[in-house]
Parts: sequence; structure tokens; C-alpha cells
Amino acid sequence: MTTRPPADVGTPVEEIDTPALVVDLDAYERNLDRMAASLAGLPVRLRPHAKTHKCPVVAHHQLARGAVGVCCQKVSEAEAMVQGGVRSVLLSNEIVGRRKIARLVGLAREADVAVCVDDAENVRELGEAARAAGVELRVLVEVNVGANRCGVEPGEPAAALAARVATTPGLRFAGLQAYQGRAQHIREPARRREAIEAAVAAVRATLDRLRAGGLRCEVVSGAGTGTYEMEAASGVYTELQAGSYVFMDADYKRVEGPPAAFENALFVLATVMSRAVAERAVVDAGLKALAVDSGMPVVAGRPDLEFTRASDEHGVLALSDPGTELRPGARLWLVPGHCDPTINLYDWYVCVRNGRVEALWPITARGAVL
Ligand SMILES: Cc1ncc(COP(=O)(O)O)c(C=O)c1O
Repeated sequence: MTTRPPADVGTPVEEIDTPALVVDLDAYERNLDRMAASLAGLPVRLRPHAKTHKCPVVAHHQLARGAVGVCCQKVSEAEAMVQGGVRSVLLSNEIVGRRKIARLVGLAREADVAVCVDDAENVRELGEAARAAGVELRVLVEVNVGANRCGVEPGEPAAALAARVATTPGLRFAGLQAYQGRAQHIREPARRREAIEAAVAAVRATLDRLRAGGLRCEVVSGAGTGTYEMEAASGVYTELQAGSYVFMDADYKRVEGPPAAFENALFVLATVMSRAVAERAVVDAGLKALAVDSGMPVVAGRPDLEFTRASDEHGVLALSDPGTELRPGARLWLVPGHCDPTINLYDWYVCVRNGRVEALWPITARGAVL
């Protein structure tokens, strides 16, 4: 840990130092419970994405409510999860390069590890490393189901790569990665549905080709907070990768339909540090305390205040009424525009309930980008 926590267990909320990443534990627990309840009885498993929270404590809360493991995007993130006691990790991403692959197969000695591929040469390298390490690596073929990011095209190209995995010693073909990332933040439910219907059709076409080639597909993994109910109901997805639902953020709150039923449980607590002129206030949280890639933060409970811009250490707020009393020292609760990259800026979650700090959770995968 490089920084001291901004509070101690028992500290009253008014005394938490700022900027601090604060979790409203009641809202957080309701989000966890809501997700578990929404999937109860469905033939799908939850494998939430740990790229959101980067914290084994949160992963264990998810596992306790039925999750079968977590997803990670990076090998170093997966290492932090396994070190934190998580036994099953899907790298929902391509892992390329000798050094990373060596770490990946090393991790597969300690835990159930699966990885995604979309390239034949990468398959060869993974097989070689797995054999050298004496492990069998589970491999999912990533299919491009509309996100146009990683992934081979559905149908025959995906089936051909799956056959290559299946015939590579050291690897076991485990299924398909089919994440439609572009659909997650589409505002209107009908347009989100269209995007997921197309993804499901692409998965079905690929499953048909796999069957024709005699390959068994155990897992079809995908989905995020914006669409998970659609993948859950599709009849083809077996694992859901939603991540943001635990905390939510200002941008996801603008998505209509069920995702908005999850509550904002994550805040950046900030302090007004300047009110030198009537029409603007400045808080101590700027670009190093908040990610603004998905829009500016929203000031919780204060529609009269607009966070208009961020520089490195400053956040500038416009006041709709310049007569508003807002002195240096006033504290504001900011809802980040995008939770994942905001969390990655902090070492600690400061978890509060009933006006006091109840727990401090280390964000052990913070900065784990390797
Ligand atoms: C591969 C993959 N799966 C799942 C997710 C989780 O999405 P969300 O945080 O929107 O629930 C992401 C997020 O970008 C992702 O890249």
C-alpha cells in the first residue's frame, strides 16, 4: 500500500479525509442481493467482473451470494484475486506475450483459470506454455458478437479456432466468450434488446458449427450490467459477467430499464477548497480522483450544483444560484461518471454505515494493468 487510508474504522463520516472513495454499505448490499435475486432459478451462473472493484473482499461477497468465480481482464488482476482467496478466474481477454503467458500458466497451478483466444499463433503459445508448466488450461474462443473489439467472426471462423484449441495438447476447449460491450450503455431498452438479439443469433450460428464439428461447448460467457437479463433469458448464455452493478455510476444511471434499479453505492467524498467568487466553487477532487471519460460526476442530492470541469487536483462546480451558501470546508458526495477507472485511482474503499466508517477494504488490484 502506498497511501494511508483517509479514515479509521469508527471514524464519523464528517471526519473522513478527502478525496475518499466511499461505499454506502447498505446500498451496496442491496445491489448484491438484487442481482442474486434476479437470477434465482435461471439456468445461468454469475461470474462477475472484478475489473470493476479490483478487491477480493468484494469478490467474496459475490461468491457468498452464488457467484461461481470472477472474471479478470489482466493477469496481474487475476493474481490479486487468487492471492485474495478466489479459486476460479476467467481471463475474459486475450493474453499475449511470453512473460504474461508464463504468469498465466503459473496461476493455473494454484486455481481454476480459463483464458480467451482469437488467434491461432496465440493458441500455439498458450499450449506450449501450459505443457511446459504441466497444467491443462481451459480456453474460450472469443467471438465478435457486435462489439467490434477482440474476437473472431461467428460461425465457421470461431469453430475453426475452437477445433485448433481442442487439438492442442495442454489446452482444453471450454466454450465461447461472447461479450457485446457496445450494447451495455445504450439508453433505450428496445435498442439494447436488438443488439443482444443479434449477439444471441451469432452465438447460435457458432454453436451450430461447433456441433457439426463434434465439439462440445460447456460455457457461453458474456453480458454486462446493461443487458445481463437479456443474455440470462436467451437460452444460450451460461455465465454472466456483469461488473458495475455492485456500485453503479452516473453514466449507468442514465441507462433506462432494469440497470437503473441498481443503486449508486459508490461516491467520491470531496471538500470545497475555494469559493473565491460567487458563481463557482472548487473541490479537492479532479482528474487524479475521478475518471471523466464517461462524463462529469454528478453531485448527489444537489441538482443546483454542476460539476463542469476537472483539472489534475481541482474540480470546478457551477452554482445555479450564486447566493447559495457553500463555504470552504463544505463536503459534497460525487457520483463518478464511470466507476471502474475511478476505483483504479484509490488504494482503499472507505465503507460507511449509520454515519460511521464500518470497514476499510484494500483495492489490491489497483493499478494491476499487466
Ligand atoms: C469482457 C467484459 N465483460 C464484462 C464487463 C462488465 O460490464 P459492466 O461493468 O458494464 O457490467 C466488461 C466491461 O467492460 C467487459 O469488458
